[in-house]
Amino acid sequence: MSKTLTRQIDGPAAAPHPPERAAAHIITFGCQMNEADSEKMAGILQSEGYRLAPVPEEADVILINTCSIRAKAEQKVFSLAGRLKRLKKRRPGLLLVMAGCLAQRWGEALLEKDAGLDVVIGTGRMAQLPSLLRAVRETGRPAVDVQEEWAGNHSASPLREGRLKAWINITFGCDNYCAYCVVPFVRGREWSRGPDGIVGEAKALAREGYREITLLGQNVNSYGAGLEPRTCFPDLLRALDADSGIARIRFTTSHPKDFSVGLIETIRDLPSVCEAVHLPLQAGGDEVLRLMNRRYTYDDYRRTYEKIRETVPGVAVTTDIIVGFPGETAREYDRTLRALEDLRFDGIFSFRYSPREGTKAWNMDDDVPEAEKARRLMEVQELQREITVEKNRELIGRRVEVLVEGVSRKDASRLTGRTRSNKIVHFAGPDALVGELHGVRISEAGFVSLRGDPVRPGSGRESGGGR
Ligand code: 5AD
Ligand code: SF4
Repeated sequence: MSKTLTRQIDGPAAAPHPPERAAAHIITFGCQMNEADSEKMAGILQSEGYRLAPVPEEADVILINTCSIRAKAEQKVFSLAGRLKRLKKRRPGLLLVMAGCLAQRWGEALLEKDAGLDVVIGTGRMAQLPSLLRAVRETGRPAVDVQEEWAGNHSASPLREGRLKAWINITFGCDNYCAYCVVPFVRGREWSRGPDGIVGEAKALAREGYREITLLGQNVNSYGAGLEPRTCFPDLLRALDADSGIARIRFTTSHPKDFSVGLIETIRDLPSVCEAVHLPLQAGGDEVLRLMNRRYTYDDYRRTYEKIRETVPGVAVTTDIIVGFPGETAREYDRTLRALEDLRFDGIFSFRYSPREGTKAWNMDDDVPEAEKARRLMEVQELQREITVEKNRELIGRRVEVLVEGVSRKDASRLTGRTRSNKIVHFAGPDALVGELHGVRISEAGFVSLRGDPVRPGSGRESGGGR
């Protein structure tokens, strides 16, 4: 799925570069990390005098922030780039920028693809965007910067899409080297940002009226490794809860091997930390988990999972599942199905295994036929669909706290928002509630959303909250 940053802005007085009133259009593929990066690049472009164009046809610079996690994600990028190249013929002077994971992975080689690219910029090089654009304008030749070293200020003022919810990066890169995953190769070694900058950013957001932050990292649980003085993820959560003034704190993604009991108790104890945990399992069979280099067994995972469920009332746990990894025999696959039945996640994201060059699994025999991968994926999704609906129905009759995010797109008389456990809720209420935390009693539950009726405002955890 791709997303377009559309919030219209008026740029400051135009600098010599870019040309006066130049406009940029940003298209984002991939994960939340990429969405956060796009907001940073929008901020960088804005400070250079660009405004954001709502459609590519009005832009002087089109930036595609790309994903390379699966082959399909890359194909989507290439077909979009092909369409945009045609637009270049109609708009002389239009510059095409490719950023993100695919850009990092392919680097200079992208120029040989004849995709009409003017700039190729790596994941850690966003601060270089203005100088690369300038170089292209000055020389008329494409510019590439995919160095691994991080360039400049990683917390450059982002131009954020939302006004209530914001991303905050806390760790960058990944050192886990799961056998299927390109992330360590496209986002580099793991490092953590200092806590003061994070808390400062959260405080500033609270002052601007933001109610919710999501802390981002490939593995937020290992936050703090290498920092002096020593700190850890629960410490960071405590500092944010105490000082930031933000009502709701979320975080993603977690790695089961690093999810400590201390963290689980911290989630339970801190009022602003939401009861929602995304804990990728990937597979239910120990042999596949070993081949994936996940460094836990199913039983290890299950112990952590059970501890989360029993310690944090009302918690929702979601996961990622890959089907058709090399060596996933019918019996191993069956263990994934049994795991879904056993654990009963609130929701899952599921994928067919896609071999990625450079990863450890690239050299393994991709031995599950595509049709079988597709069948397994469908089966996993059907099974989970029932479980998700059942889990959602457990909320009927309960009072939940909703952060009201806006008016429902389908029905203007309804408001829409999310529970602390991150489930979508629609309910009738006045527009004035947008931006507020409000109580809702759940009356209906489906697969993607819940419905309910407003009850007196106030906060409170979802489980306990009086029936
Ligand atoms: N093929 C399929 N799914 C993958 N993921 C990561 N790499 C691959 C791959 N090569 C999935 C994992 C991860 C999620 C973000 O994407 O489930 O948790
Ligand atoms: Fe990829 Fe594993 Fe790192 Fe997640 S933890 S980004 S799946 S290598």
